[in-house]
Amino acid sequence: MPTRNIVKEGDQCLRKICRPVTDFNSRLHDLLDDMHETLAQANGAGLAAPQVGVLRRLALVMLDDGSYLEIINPEIIERKGAQSDVEGCLSIPGVWGIVERPMTVTVRAQDRFGNEFTRKAEGFTARAFCHEIDHLNGHLFTDFVTEYLDPEELE
Ligand code: CO
Repeated sequence: MPTRNIVKEGDQCLRKICRPVTDFNSRLHDLLDDMHETLAQANGAGLAAPQVGVLRRLALVMLDDGSYLEIINPEIIERKGAQSDVEGCLSIPGVWGIVERPMTVTVRAQDRFGNEFTRKAEGFTARAFCHEIDHLNGHLFTDFVTEYLDPEELE
């Protein structure tokens, strides 16, 4: 599984609205496998297709057990509560800021074979779902930051 280059802020890929995935074929599986490898190597909490230059609606999100869930054509169907916490992004290295997100979300998505599922997430994972799904709509977390943090103060 080769890794893919993660595009950085300023690249127009990150500002496009991605198209739905319609073909659940080996090309999709290769892309997902490459994204797993890329994300593991970058040690991130999530990675969306536009971050590797592919304008399709899919992403990986880290779950509580440290594994990565594949979400294809994901939609947030329910949001509850609110939380404010620190966020960063592999496409905006070295930048950290506070973003308000729902405390829990329910996401409906498809797996790599096209099977639909729903998943409820809370806390950090809910935040990760929101962040990655934002990427599919051309939004970056910096669009929503209420306060930037000094990276030195995070150590
Ligand atoms: Co990101």
